[in-house]
Order: sequence, then C-alpha cells, then structure tokens
Amino acid sequence: MAEPIIEVTGLVKHYPLTQGILFKKQVGAVKAVDGLDFTLNKGETLGIVGESGCGKSTVAKMLVNLEQPTAGSIKYKGEDITKLSGKALKAVRRNIQMVFQDPYTSLNPRMTVGDIIGEPYDIHPEVAPKGDRRRRVQDLLDVVGLNPEYINRYPHQFSGGQRQRIGIARGLALRPEVIVADEPVSALDVSVQAQVVNLMDRLQNEFDLSYVFIAHDLSIVRHISDRVGVMYLGRIVEIGRDEEIYDYPTHPYTQALLSAVPVPDPEAREHRERIILAGDVPSPTNIPSGCRFRTRCWKAKERCATEVPVLAIPTGLPDSTGPAAHDSACFFAEERSSAAR
Ligand SMILES: Nc1ncnc2c1ncn2[C@@H]1O[C@H](COP(=O)(O)OP(=O)(O)O)[C@@H](O)[C@H]1O
Ligand code: SF4
Ligand SMILES: [Mg+2]
Repeated sequence: MAEPIIEVTGLVKHYPLTQGILFKKQVGAVKAVDGLDFTLNKGETLGIVGESGCGKSTVAKMLVNLEQPTAGSIKYKGEDITKLSGKALKAVRRNIQMVFQDPYTSLNPRMTVGDIIGEPYDIHPEVAPKGDRRRRVQDLLDVVGLNPEYINRYPHQFSGGQRQRIGIARGLALRPEVIVADEPVSALDVSVQAQVVNLMDRLQNEFDLSYVFIAHDLSIVRHISDRVGVMYLGRIVEIGRDEEIYDYPTHPYTQALLSAVPVPDPEAREHRERIILAGDVPSPTNIPSGCRFRTRCWKAKERCATEVPVLAIPTGLPDSTGPAAHDSACFFAEERSSAAR
C-alpha cells in the first residue's frame, strides 16, 4: 500500500509585480506556481518535468521552506508544514533536504569540502556531536563515491560530477527522509549525468529515501522515476506511473514533449511524428484563460478558452481501466495512435 509522505494541495506562489519607487503599487503578479496538487509516497521517486520557467524551482523551494506559499498546503506525514514555526519547523526541515541544480555555484568556494558537508550539523548538533563530525563527513564522502581523504580540499579542485556528489553528501548529512533534487544533473556533461542518477538511485535504497526529482527533460527522469508529473505554467497537467506517462500520455503537452525526446531505435524513429508546438510559453504574469495550454495546443476548441480542465482521469476513454486512465487536465484527453507515439 502506498503511504503518502508529502501531500501538496492547491499550492500557489505569486510574486507581486510592483510599479513606482516611493509608493510601490502592485500592478500584477508572476504566477510562478498556480494551483499545484501532488502526493509523494514513501520510498518512491516522483519526477517533475516541465520547460524552463514553469515553476519547478519555486515548488522545490516551498517544499524545503525556502519560500512561503501564497496559498495552499504542504503536508509532511499529515501535518501542514507551511503553518509550523520554531522547534517543530526545524525538526521537519531536517527531514526534507534539497540538492541544488548547479554544483558550480551552490558550493561555497571558500569552504573546504568537509565544512560544506558538515555545515548542517551546526544547525542540528544533536545529529552529530562535535567530536564525531569529521568521521561522519568522511563516511558521507565514501558513500557518494569520493575519497574520504579529500575532506580538506576546496570545491574548485573537483569536477562537475564530483561537486554534485558533494552536494548530495551534504543533502544526506542530516539523514533526511525526503530529498528534493532540483535539476541535479542538468548542469553536468551528458556522460556524467547517468553516473549521478545511478548514485541517487543506489542511495535511495541504502537510506530509505523518497525523492522529488525535478528535470526539464522527460528522458532524464525516466529511469529513476516511479511516477512522473508534467508541469506547464505553474500547474501539473498530467501525472501517472512511469509507463503510463511515457507510453500512454493523453495530454497534448506531454505528447509534444515526448515527441521531441530522442529515440534510439531507428525503426521506431521513422514511424514517429514529431509535434512542433506553436509559439512560446506565455508569460506567467498573463496566463491564458480556460486551459493554460490552449495558445499552443493544436486540439484547442472554443470550450478550452472558457473552462478550466481539472486534473482527473479522463472520461470517455475506450478502456477506462487501462494505462491511459491516469490523471490528465484536458477536455479532449486521448491516446495518440501508436504509430505517432
Ligand atoms: N523571486 C522571484 N520574484 C519574481 N519572479 C520570480 C521569482 N522567482 C521565480 N520567479 C519567476 O517565476 C517563474 C517560475 O520560475 P522557476 O520556479 O525558477 O521556474 P523553473 O525552475 O521551472 O525554471 C519564472 O517566470 C520566474 O521568472
Ligand atoms: S483542454 Fe483544450 S487546449 Fe487544453 S490541452 Fe486539452 S484540447 Fe488542448
Ligand atoms: Mg529551476
């Protein structure tokens, strides 16, 4: 039975847009996250995918409490963490850690690797008493595949992949239950990406972790995700188990994203029809009415401009219990013919 560890409901983050220097007047809002729902189950990896600017990092920051939501709730083991403060908040923060996108800028260049990885112990000394920290950090270096003797080196002495291993070791220092990884491999060479993903996969089993794994490309999360949510302009438009999303997508946006993923098999490639989306992603200050994807959707009809499609199992599918029957926010959700897939 799936046991939820994080439940996100109606999550919103609007950044006010102001005008004027002395008397600031709000003239609008950047709707970075605009009504997001998902559940992360214990021990699973939920991939979250979407184009740049769709709100992924803002979601990650809210999950680890670096940003306060404008509305909505984030429950960790049933408790709304957006309402916590003081000791209770500190205890929860320890259990939900983040791995950042860019290992080149997220590690302080003036600190040794030992100090970077051990820094979380300054805030949570109860996890590792002072005399025990060096050994703990060396263990962590070993766990992420780095030589424990590197403890006194500085970030610039490491490659990109190694730096991300350092970032992961730091994320593990407090023995969290959940790791939110915000595009952890996007800044790395393709040849190193798989190594870091494999490392995260191994650590998940070893430390009993639940992951929210964010990426801008569906191909990166494929092998590590149990479920995948596709985001567009601050919302999830389709979510389901790995094979449901990759092999039976029903939302036009997911279908378009998948049609752009490289296919290794030449025969399959020949049969595939690439969907080129018209136009650019609209600005999050000016989200289209009705279905937010309608300005780029080749299937859009009148109804799409006036009604907001909800994220739910589509009705009217030929097989209401098959793999296409997963949550999709489209009035006309349907499978594409297999030749076009
Ligand atoms: N602090 C901020 N103030 C105003 N706008 C912001 C802020 N942070 C992010 N945004 C805007 O919110 C939108 C979503 O950003 P982000 O969450 O970083 O997207 P992603 O990680 O998917 O690329 C973008 O339009 C971005 O410019
Ligand atoms: S609801 Fe309409 S505009 Fe939105 S994805 Fe479906 S067909 Fe396209
Ligand atoms: Mg981002």
